Amino acid sequence: ILYPLLAALAAYLLGSLSFAVIISRVMGLSDPRSYGSGNPGATNVLRSGNKKAAVLTLLFDALKGVLPVLAVHFWGERLGLGEDSAALVGLAAFVGHLWPVFFRFQGGKGVATAAGVLLALNPLLGGATLACWLAVAYVTRYSSLAALCAALFAPFFQMLVWGGSPSVLAVGLMSLLLIWRHESNIKKLLAGTESKLGSKAKAAS
Ligand code: G3P
Repeated sequence: ILYPLLAALAAYLLGSLSFAVIISRVMGLSDPRSYGSGNPGATNVLRSGNKKAAVLTLLFDALKGVLPVLAVHFWGERLGLGEDSAALVGLAAFVGHLWPVFFRFQGGKGVATAAGVLLALNPLLGGATLACWLAVAYVTRYSSLAALCAALFAPFFQMLVWGGSPSVLAVGLMSLLLIWRHESNIKKLLAGTESKLGSKAKAAS
């Protein structure tokens, strides 16, 4: 029990690195919490107009999910860490992104980090979920709607193809938390005021 908990703690700390804020600061851009949706995430960084910063945020936030899971896959065995521990550390990294200890527990919505976790836990599941996100984003141009659809898709697809596995609980929990974090997006989508991918914003709303 000690090793899985230590691994989860390390993953939580890694997840707590809010790369939207860090990369924006390093690149001399405004804090993403001060404009657009106010969310520290790649979608909102894109609203700054700086595509490079958005792509880097997406990449690093996704890596936060990939690395802890891969670390358990590669080195976990000798410590007795199995697939359930891989799912636990993935969940911990995701939780770190949502409630980062280094940023007063005010984090993002977890889309990129969840994608990273899924890709590392099960590349087929991650790939299919990513395809779902891309399809919805391509058709509707709403990043949030794409994330909501992908969050609904992932646990169902996982159950359908693999049935119950240690990671089902983690994936289901990530989906629930992700949907809950998109409450303001859901309201905006219903009201028809959600901003589309590629549109810029100045003040936080
Ligand atoms: O990645 C988060 C996305 O789904 C929504 O972001 O900034 O539009 O609230 P945002």
